[in-house]
Amino acid sequence: MDISIFEGVRTPFYYYDRELLERTLDTIDACTAGTPMRMHYAVKANSDPGVMRIIAGRGYGADCVSGNEIDLAVECGFDPQKIYYAGVGKTDEEILKGLRHGIGCFNIESMEEIDILKELAAKEGRKATVALRVNPNIDAHTHEYITTGLKENKFGIDLRMLEEAVRRVRASESLDLGGLHFHIGSQITISEPFKILCERINELKTRFRLDGVEFRFFNVGGGLGIDYDNPDENPIPDFRTYFDTILSNLDLDEGQEVHCELGRAIVGQCGSLISRVVLVKQGLEKSFVIVDAGMSDLLRPALYGAHHKIDNLSAAIGSEMKTYDVVGPICESSDVFGKGETLPATKRGDLIAFRSAGAYGSAMASRYNMRDLPGSLIK
Ligand code: LLP
Repeated sequence: MDISIFEGVRTPFYYYDRELLERTLDTIDACTAGTPMRMHYAVKANSDPGVMRIIAGRGYGADCVSGNEIDLAVECGFDPQKIYYAGVGKTDEEILKGLRHGIGCFNIESMEEIDILKELAAKEGRKATVALRVNPNIDAHTHEYITTGLKENKFGIDLRMLEEAVRRVRASESLDLGGLHFHIGSQITISEPFKILCERINELKTRFRLDGVEFRFFNVGGGLGIDYDNPDENPIPDFRTYFDTILSNLDLDEGQEVHCELGRAIVGQCGSLISRVVLVKQGLEKSFVIVDAGMSDLLRPALYGAHHKIDNLSAAIGSEMKTYDVVGPICESSDVFGKGETLPATKRGDLIAFRSAGAYGSAMASRYNMRDLPGSLIK
């Protein structure tokens, strides 16, 4: 990689490969053209305005989970009609913001929320389109912190309460029932859970049709995973298999749409956290590469035990390989990016890339230890 593009940029910062992002979006467009699939970008994965503008430029909708995300999505050019607002604990202030922007849909997660939105929309003299988020009780076989579709989860409406929820929305003059919403988890790398989800949706569709309920859309959520171990070999996720699984297993009527809210699969591989080696500490039994990025910049290793591939961008080809623990400067023993990493001989001042960090990287950065937030460069 030509690191001259990083000259003069203060580390640590997130680098987004514009060309790869565009190619990823091209792939999605090619797979979904002419289908009833509509894409909504999950803003929570990466809310860098530069990244968001590129995605908005493709005509995507936005999946937002806070009032601030709604504001930012509008600012970055997303059509308010294509902004969907989800979350288990929307405040009145946030709901009002959504109503006043005229957003396309509120994804409702509880019976209580139906009543709150109904009242606020009536007060504002508006009719709000809603989708009921259903907890489909599917094991997505992913990390326990990011599985969401299981029964004991805080997300969504239990299947047994759904009929009552549908009735309640349909009885309200200020609410309009648009569809059903699902999300079974994140970083899912096999097709089976998505196939089961489609079967559940088909069952619900048939069951509610008996009551004369026709949904305009089904939102299947996000969740498609990326290859963290081999970002160079697999820079673009297998969208073809993913979309084929959904489109071939969902039984849709004429005019019915499928909405999908991918985050990680769109932005994950195009981003790297670029950091500089502060020093290499020679211990008695170990060598530590200490970099100027830490868990405040990229939390996933500390929080989930995630591993991001580590590249030394400055090392000459053919350098001798050595073993290091790669750690950050923060006062926590979990501030570790990799243990026993094999890297080319590394020295003070080298540039290090933590790969596949475009999703839930900068978005989860904090100012812990009063550190500056990481910068960003899109090129
Ligand atoms: N829709 C809903 C309702 C969600 O909760 C999420 C993610 C998405 C869509 C987007 O999912 P994706 O396509 O990115 O998998 N911080 C964790 C991931 C948390 C995901 C939360 N929900 C991580 O770093 O792995």
